Amino acid sequence: MRIHILTLFPNMLSGPFSESIIKRAVDRGLVEIVIYNIRDYTSDRHHVVDDYPFGGGQGMVLKPEPISAAVESIKNEYEVSVILLTPQGRLFNQMVAEELAGYSEMILICGHYEGVDERVREHLVTDEISIGDYVLSGGELAAMVVVDAVVRQLPGALGAEEAVREDSHSSGLLEYPQYTRPRVFQGWEVPQVLLSGNHAEIARWRREQSIIRTLRRRPDLLERADLSREERMVLERMKRGEE
Ligand code: ADE
Repeated sequence: MRIHILTLFPNMLSGPFSESIIKRAVDRGLVEIVIYNIRDYTSDRHHVVDDYPFGGGQGMVLKPEPISAAVESIKNEYEVSVILLTPQGRLFNQMVAEELAGYSEMILICGHYEGVDERVREHLVTDEISIGDYVLSGGELAAMVVVDAVVRQLPGALGAEEAVREDSHSSGLLEYPQYTRPRVFQGWEVPQVLLSGNHAEIARWRREQSIIRTLRRRPDLLERADLSREERMVLERMKRGEE
């Protein structure tokens, strides 16, 4: 997979991509991340990337020409998704991350200032993504979130130990509670079942904890969650307060 990121602040992006799982994925050749400074695609002497909004108003708007020039320089024979990070986009979640993980190539555009000239949206961009209902100073942090969630989906990105773990959201449920040594810390004990060595019991307990946790914290997720008929029945009883 190749991910191209267009930004006015390339330095913001280098850190997270040279650490941990993303670095390993890059080193293994699973993903190539190429960062472009939008300012390098200006053609005027002063390298202007923004201008006042037509019609007046506060703030500056990113001009269409440098973004267009950058996008055109990247586009090649492949189908390239051009994704604008913006609070107006569709909400990013695990399903969107899985969808993007199937792409071979994508361009992420980080917006800034008051916004991006609408013609970029209309004619260049194929998708718009928001990472949540809040406004960031720019799309860079959002791009980092998207890249992280997508790259860890790529086969081979996670080590064997990490891969077999059932992450929160991968089954539509929140993850069960995790414990490690010591067995007792300041008098706080690890649940007995986890020390039992009974793998079937442990699996049952974890599944139940995931369901209970999701019911208490994120009941909205349960609609879409992957539950057996029996689990749905238990859940209905829980909701009615019988358990
Ligand atoms: N740029 C500014 N805020 C954003 C958000 N919430 N998601 C994606 N890009 C953004």
